[in-house]
Amino acid sequence: MHRAGSHILVVDDNAQNRALARGTLEDEGFRVSEASSGEEALTLFEATRPDCVLLDVRMPGTDGLAVCARMRALPGGDEVRILFFTALRDVDTFDHTLRVGGDDFLTKPLRPTELVLRVQSALKIRRMSAELRESYDLVRRQRDDLMRLQLQKDALTAFVVHDLKNPVHSMLMHAELILEDPSISEDSRESTMWIREDARSLLRLVLNLLDISKSEEGHLAPRKSTVDLQAVVKSVFDAVSARARARDITLVSHLETPSIVADVDLMRRVIENLVENALRYAPPHSEVRVTAARRDGAIEVRVADSGTGVPAAQRERIFERFAQLDGGAGDRTGRGLGLAFCKLVVEAHGGNVKVEDSDGGAVFLVRLPDAS
Ligand SMILES: Nc1ncnc2c1ncn2[C@@H]1O[C@H](COP(=O)(O)OP(=O)(O)OP(=O)(O)O)[C@@H](O)[C@H]1O
Ligand SMILES: [Mg+2]
Repeated sequence: MHRAGSHILVVDDNAQNRALARGTLEDEGFRVSEASSGEEALTLFEATRPDCVLLDVRMPGTDGLAVCARMRALPGGDEVRILFFTALRDVDTFDHTLRVGGDDFLTKPLRPTELVLRVQSALKIRRMSAELRESYDLVRRQRDDLMRLQLQKDALTAFVVHDLKNPVHSMLMHAELILEDPSISEDSRESTMWIREDARSLLRLVLNLLDISKSEEGHLAPRKSTVDLQAVVKSVFDAVSARARARDITLVSHLETPSIVADVDLMRRVIENLVENALRYAPPHSEVRVTAARRDGAIEVRVADSGTGVPAAQRERIFERFAQLDGGAGDRTGRGLGLAFCKLVVEAHGGNVKVEDSDGGAVFLVRLPDAS
């Protein structure tokens, strides 16, 4: 792909990051030199004329943005490709790197494959003809817009996580506290139960969103231990009991497999999401049923209701994020994230989740490898 021995200058005050970038690039046949500060980078740049510079944004002393501006001003400075890499994921930083003449923008943690591909394409672009460069510039402007959108989305997720999760959690705790007070009136108790229910479903939504975005970044790692399934199902049933009672729905469980090996918090929320859906679609005076059994070397957990069911043609699609079916009995209070979350978590456990054929109603089947 690239000319053997292209010379890359890696600039970062963090030795570990430099070592990672060097190792990755040298494995691909690049020649790599390192600088641990902005000033050192500028000296090396003038002395060795690298083909490409990988530049950390935040460094003590002369930061990456200033280094880039000064490199561009040096003779031949518009020839070199400059790639920023940074842990800062905000749009302002991104725009700033473009203004000082950066060619590309990578976010940390560095993914080796991505680093190699971006360096390779940067070098290719350097060798391109003027005509090609013009169309490259167009594509690049579009890519920059996409990058801006992506960063805004990340910022929104961070906002949801930090600014919503904590207050919602605190609402939930306070509702619990009020409910422990035996002196409150029956009406207050009833209202507080609803506050608790609503805070719970808000928290469920926020956590789903958080984990889906974690998983997109490759950070959703289940912390496995032995999980008491009985206790998990009971705690989910307790959490939704007010809503079930309000529509006279009976919650039933039949668990042949008392314990499984899984991430207790994530599995609890998988079951919570499935039960929450089932409750929403189950007709009044019916049953929502959770069962678990061992079969063919797998643990099968089923959540079943007797509602409208899911048409066969839609059974894949409902697991996509933001997918909601039209004309269902649901009240559309959700966001279509629940099943996307369930799929990511179950697959992170080495299992799978699907909708089963049934005589009526929906049956969701979670299959997990039997670790016992
Ligand atoms: N038990 C069920 N019966 C019938 N349809 C269902 C059932 N569970 C899910 N669906 C369909 O799948 C869609 C996606 O479900 P999902 O849990 O991902 O999102 P949601 O419940 O709409 O919102 P959220 O879970 O984010 O609050 C639902 O909107 C509904 O159309
Ligand atoms: Mg749902």
